[in-house]
Amino acid sequence: MTKPLLRALARETLPVPPVWMMRQAGRYLPEYRATRERAGDFLSLCYNPELATEVTLQPIRRFGFDAAILFADILLVPQALGADLWFVTGEGPRLSTVTGPEDFARLKPAAEVHATLAPIYETVRNLAGALPPEVALIGFAGAPWTVATYMIAGRGTPDQAPAHRLIAEDRSTFEALIDVLTAATIEYLSAQVEAGAEVVKIFDSWAGSLRGDDFDRYAVAPARTITAALKARHPGLPVIAFPREAGQNYIGFHAATGADCVAVDDSVEAEWVAERIQPDGCVQGNLASRHMVSGGPELDAEVRRIRDALSGGPHVFNLGHGITPDADPDNVARMIDTLRENA
Ligand code: CP3
Repeated sequence: MTKPLLRALARETLPVPPVWMMRQAGRYLPEYRATRERAGDFLSLCYNPELATEVTLQPIRRFGFDAAILFADILLVPQALGADLWFVTGEGPRLSTVTGPEDFARLKPAAEVHATLAPIYETVRNLAGALPPEVALIGFAGAPWTVATYMIAGRGTPDQAPAHRLIAEDRSTFEALIDVLTAATIEYLSAQVEAGAEVVKIFDSWAGSLRGDDFDRYAVAPARTITAALKARHPGLPVIAFPREAGQNYIGFHAATGADCVAVDDSVEAEWVAERIQPDGCVQGNLASRHMVSGGPELDAEVRRIRDALSGGPHVFNLGHGITPDADPDNVARMIDTLRENA
């Protein structure tokens, strides 16, 4: 096993950590914007295997990352379950809502998601045959809680209030939704692995708004169920979990879920992560995305600080969240050069 990403996920401490970036194929790259234009719109790009393969490869060619992440979106799973999905330019996603048992009853069973998602598996197959030998291929899905927050509200929300309200008012519908999403996510990720994904990542972008028992029930338990099912079907498969803004709840997340790697956002200090999280396994993160906009010596200093703080254990270098459309591609190259300066 020589791919640096797979070595780090297997708990090896490497002299230079492998590096990739969340949203590395995205609007900050002119070649991405050109390909999206050819596809027509964002969702057409996701479902076009040839063009989705192309945009996944663009940042690999330009920057030499250690991993490629499948180009798709976490909201394709609700669409495959029968929800309506569209994107409003400049605003973000919109979905038909699930706010009670009647809406829930209209969703399809988890086993039926493959019909809609087949083009995504074709993209994964294309990528598995096209990547340079040292570059690992990451598949992904949204975590049930995060995906549920979009399905319940019909859009992104700053505080996930509609989902919290459904927990309070109709917990059985909420839990039925979490269960169908858990089952669909297992199906979806398993098919990505069969198509050639070597690692999977579960994005729980809104985990930080779950408190107390709700964090255990709706962030930890689904991640544990998904991880266990995938590892049973695909022995040795590495899993990255990202319970974003979990704060103190990052502690013990490896053990509680069985994830090989826990990705951390930039609201926690790398030094704290080294002390409290990294002893349990590989960690990924956690440069603030704004450095990809501002650059300069502050970027270099932050890259070195994070690299050095986490150099005593397995680490995958990444941002704390996705790169933003206003980022300068030259700062991405600078981040990688600084990270690898002594190699
Ligand atoms: O990381 C990657 O490069 C892989 C592709 C990927 C995308 N979305 C492409 C995308 C991944 C892993 C995601 C995950 C995703 N999608 C999450 C979880 C991670 C996170 O960022 O918190 C969430 C919450 C979504 C839902 C989503 N998709 C939103 C809220 C938006 C609109 C906001 C925005 O950034 O414009 C999207 C659109 C989206 N997904 C874009 C990309 C490249 C931008 C769409 C465009 O090109 O216009």
